[in-house]
Amino acid sequence: MSSASILYKCIVLYCAVSRSWALNANAINLKTYSPVAAGLPTPDDISSHVSELTRASGKSRSRAFINALQSKHRSTATTALNSVLNGQVITTNIKFGSKSFSAVVDTGSSDTWLAHSNFQCIDPSTSLNVTRSQCAFGPTYDISKSFRAIKNENFNVSYLDGEYLNGYMGHEYVSIADINIKNQEVAIVDEAAWLGDGVSSGLVGLAFPGLTTSFAGTNPLTDNVNFTITYSPIFTSMTKQHLVAPMFSIALGREKTPSMMAFGGVPPVPHSKSFARSPLQILAVNPTEGTPMFTFYTITVGGVSYSVATDAPISYGKWQNPFAANSSFQVSIDSGTTFIQMPTSIAEAVNGLFDPPAVFDDDQGAYVTECTAKVPQFGVQIAQRMFNIDSRDMLLQSDGLDAGKCITGVSDGGDGPYFLGDVFLRNVVAVFDVGASEMRFASRLD
Ligand SMILES: *[C@@H]1O[C@H](CO)[C@@H](O)[C@H](O)[C@H]1NC(C)=O
Ligand SMILES: *[C@@H]1O[C@H](CO)[C@@H](O)[C@H](O)[C@H]1NC(C)=O
Ligand SMILES: *[C@@H]1O[C@H](CO)[C@@H](O)[C@H](O)[C@H]1NC(C)=O
Ligand SMILES: *[C@@H]1O[C@H](CO)[C@@H](O)[C@H](O)[C@H]1NC(C)=O
Repeated sequence: MSSASILYKCIVLYCAVSRSWALNANAINLKTYSPVAAGLPTPDDISSHVSELTRASGKSRSRAFINALQSKHRSTATTALNSVLNGQVITTNIKFGSKSFSAVVDTGSSDTWLAHSNFQCIDPSTSLNVTRSQCAFGPTYDISKSFRAIKNENFNVSYLDGEYLNGYMGHEYVSIADINIKNQEVAIVDEAAWLGDGVSSGLVGLAFPGLTTSFAGTNPLTDNVNFTITYSPIFTSMTKQHLVAPMFSIALGREKTPSMMAFGGVPPVPHSKSFARSPLQILAVNPTEGTPMFTFYTITVGGVSYSVATDAPISYGKWQNPFAANSSFQVSIDSGTTFIQMPTSIAEAVNGLFDPPAVFDDDQGAYVTECTAKVPQFGVQIAQRMFNIDSRDMLLQSDGLDAGKCITGVSDGGDGPYFLGDVFLRNVVAVFDVGASEMRFASRLD
């Protein structure tokens, strides 16, 4: 991708506060609170509703633009990652009405939106109006006959990488992986500060209703983060309309292996027979009702393990570092984030084991080393099973780096939140079993 890529789609409203939420959740032991009687897991059978995923690869943005964005981020002291990586945005086809569009697949947010054909593009670094082409969307949406606008509501979202969107809400026929959803609430964007990839026209948000970001009224300037309107995102609607079993799955491939998303089952890719199972966790309390609610796909990992390059994969039980068995922490599974974002001490230690060692590059907001570097072993432990990250996923090409330099797959998540992004997802079949309130992971075998 370029392009322009969208690397860190976590929405500000929740990412920024999720740390205190997590602390709160610990204090009142929400981790063990089960808000809904979890149902039985949906069998991990091959689904008939599979969507092929594509890596967008649009044209690159100017360095000046990216630099401007980065300096803005530095001043806000977020750990935003703005590197322009190649081929890192995952997209799917989605139909609004009878027209098909390409949209970013994001398990870290909940709204599904497309840019309207007359949208205003805004430069995220200056907030000035710029020409539409600068937002680099694919084909944009014209209101279809089946679209019904919702009066007196507006869509307003900011992502941690500096992008933001304003628009309005409506109901539309939405179809994805041959599943036809009636009356789906969607957002239509009429103002966008966006770093597009030249291919995708919007985004498909697959997280829980607790993360929807629509607001009462038509003036975005009066929106109060504490009063979002909760509605059913597309996956919730699919299950409410009994179109699929309450589970979806994602398998991201590399250059020569397929990337797929499946609903109600798993995609047809080779994987280990058994799945590691980990309960989904609650990070937040519904601000209006005071009840615990799911937001992101968050689990607790048992720890991570790393060592200098060896041929032998790390197995569970052979802990080789201080973050072994007893260093559990929470991570969210996020297809809209490129990297594995870890606590600082882990990111530093792993990056120090590249040969030559990877060094934090302020311009990139990421660790950088030679593309030919020897890669350390790195594994994430989930439910007493070690998921090793393939060395091919640990070095990523990016525009704007000196020749021969690469960004590493493990980045510094500071004080959190932490994520298992695409670098991790390429190594597994990830099952998001909402009905059973759990995540399952099998190792990918192709
Ligand atoms: C930017 O564009 C919006 C929407 O087209 C318009 O309402 C606004 O006046 C423009 N702002 C400037 C400063 O031109
Ligand atoms: C809503 O959008 C406006 C205009 O982009 C922005 O200034 C404001 O911060 C946004 N509010 C929320 C709650 O996202
Ligand atoms: C939202 O709620 C928090 C916690 O109650 C409060 O500190 C904050 O000021 C509120 N924000 C707005 C914009 O009302
Ligand atoms: C983990 O912590 C528990 C309780 O503090 C301790 O009994 C156990 O030995 C620790 N395990 C490891 C592998 O350090």
